[in-house]
Amino acid sequence: MDYIVMMPAAGSGQRMGAGYNKLFLMLGNKPILIHTLEVFEKDPACKGVFLAVKQEEQSEIQAVLDQYKIAKVSRFVNGGSERQYSVAACIESYDGDDIVLVHDAARPFIHQAVITELVRTAAKYGAAIAGVQAKDTMKLAPLGVVEETVDRETLWIIQTPQAFQIKVLRKASNQAKSDSFLGTDESMLVERLGYPVRIVESTYDNVKMTTQEDIVFGEILLERQRK
Ligand code: C5P
Repeated sequence: MDYIVMMPAAGSGQRMGAGYNKLFLMLGNKPILIHTLEVFEKDPACKGVFLAVKQEEQSEIQAVLDQYKIAKVSRFVNGGSERQYSVAACIESYDGDDIVLVHDAARPFIHQAVITELVRTAAKYGAAIAGVQAKDTMKLAPLGVVEETVDRETLWIIQTPQAFQIKVLRKASNQAKSDSFLGTDESMLVERLGYPVRIVESTYDNVKMTTQEDIVFGEILLERQRK
């Protein structure tokens, strides 16, 4: 089933400490951004990618896309000061009715099978997000003192992609905007409207490149892919 991607790529990468947008950092012989885009470049079901970028980085990003022959980026959108606003700008610029897959540009190791299952589930039920079960013992401690040990069997660590019927995502995004609600993912916006959101089991290697350790892990994953 066909889908389009809304990809936030307008971060500053402060936690990476590179001094510039971490998506330009090399992983193996290509920038992180290119690894992520290549997943969608190879998927015939992906009809296009809306890329939210900082305006001042657009020409540099275009040059990198040309260099690596990425053809699926169908639109640049001006990113916002928060990730949610970058995605909202993509939603506002879209008037089609395809399934929308929101995926962080900083997650290059997403598997095709997970994408396919997310799109299928969202088409059927409205909203589907990628996640993995918590492996560690999990405790609730809002003030640094344990209040409760939460049964980890019930806890999921949530990633992107997150897939939605556009009407569900648009409604949730508009409502968040009018309530000035800021969430950490799109699912939160949908959940607060009372829509059920289904979890599709993903893989532990779908890490977000956030700090320097993630780059080290990413290099190991790339090495594994080459074998
Ligand atoms: O900073 P973090 O890695 O959590 O951001 C997740 C994704 O959202 C990244 O791909 C980043 O480029 C993007 N982002 C954005 N606009 C922002 C902040 C982050 O598009 N204002």
